[in-house]
Amino acid sequence: MLTKEQVIELLGPVRDPFLHTTLAETDGIKGVTIKEDKNHVSVKIGISKMNTGEQMQMQQEIVGILKKNGANTVGLRFEQLPEEVIRKYQPAVEQAQEASLMGGNTNTKFIAVASGKGGVGKSTVTVNLAVALARLGKKVGVIDADIYGFSVPDMMGIENRPVVRGKKIIPVERFGVQVISMGFFVEDNSPIIWRGPMLGKMLNSFFSEVEWGDLDYLLLDLPPGTGDIAMDVHELLPTCKEIIVTTPHPTAAFVAARAGQMALKTNHEILGVVENMAYFESKLTGEKEYVFGQGGGQKLAEVLKTKVLGQLPLQQPYMDEEVFAPSVYQEDHPNGQEFRRMAAKVIAKIEEE
Ligand SMILES: Nc1ncnc2c1ncn2[C@@H]1O[C@H](COP(=O)(O)OP(=O)(O)OP(=O)(O)O)[C@@H](O)[C@H]1O
Ligand SMILES: [Mg+2]
Repeated sequence: MLTKEQVIELLGPVRDPFLHTTLAETDGIKGVTIKEDKNHVSVKIGISKMNTGEQMQMQQEIVGILKKNGANTVGLRFEQLPEEVIRKYQPAVEQAQEASLMGGNTNTKFIAVASGKGGVGKSTVTVNLAVALARLGKKVGVIDADIYGFSVPDMMGIENRPVVRGKKIIPVERFGVQVISMGFFVEDNSPIIWRGPMLGKMLNSFFSEVEWGDLDYLLLDLPPGTGDIAMDVHELLPTCKEIIVTTPHPTAAFVAARAGQMALKTNHEILGVVENMAYFESKLTGEKEYVFGQGGGQKLAEVLKTKVLGQLPLQQPYMDEEVFAPSVYQEDHPNGQEFRRMAAKVIAKIEEE
């Protein structure tokens, strides 16, 4: 006949399937009753996530343990663990998950660059923010997570392909930034016609099959909108932070808010809003024209309870005969300087935490 104390001791080492922490640690054994006449044990267990396949497995495990140790019948009920217990153990779980993606490195900070709609400058922002962070001495990587619409290699003027060392792909380095893109694995710029599930796998491969080394920052250039890839990123990288890009047009900001709302819903911290194509400045008169309207960035930042990280006018990088990188602003270019200020803000925000 099992006693209450024995049941507590037997079940103490059982692990919560999501927090990977024992029931003894989470104080997850919420009640034990023993009916001696029928040799029936009933227990109430606190679990971090209810009604999942993992809960079923845990149920079998517990029933197995108790029966093996003498219980005739077992009654089992589950309840949700208190929020504060989940909050205590969750960060360690998330960090461990991300570290395993990064080959054990626990220091990498992830930043996804998102927007509600296409063509507002996500890729431009990703690439230039990455270069600016590298110019400030950080070890930086970029994942071109726009699997169909990859553009990072062209924007940075990358002509070589990654090499394979051992079983891992070595990213291509450009301006001190490590880059991986679907564009490296496609012949002749031909279109890609994979479906949803393959996309998720590709994103996984960009971690598991790539040798990232010990990066400080890994930036992800997301496809437009709030589709599958954005969801995959939320799941793979629970601590990923986000930058939302918009044009100054109020409608564009409204659409971008959706991408931001999704980040908020999945508990991703929004680092700030970048207002791109903010204005056009005449070289002749120095006059500013707000060709795409005004105020969208500020409005979006208010909706998302964050700040405007920076504003970029419409401008091309300087022509450079020797270094071909059509979308990378030089360090002394006004937009290059704005990216430097943004990078410094990002570093301050992330590293002060
Ligand atoms: N500040 C700017 N000044 C001039 N041209 C810009 C600026 N920002 C972006 N562009 C140009 O606008 C186009 C769209 O930018 P980009 O590709 O970065 O947007 P995107 O949001 O990544 O687009 P997509 O949704 O297609 O991935 C590119 O040709 C880019 O060079
Ligand atoms: Mg893009």
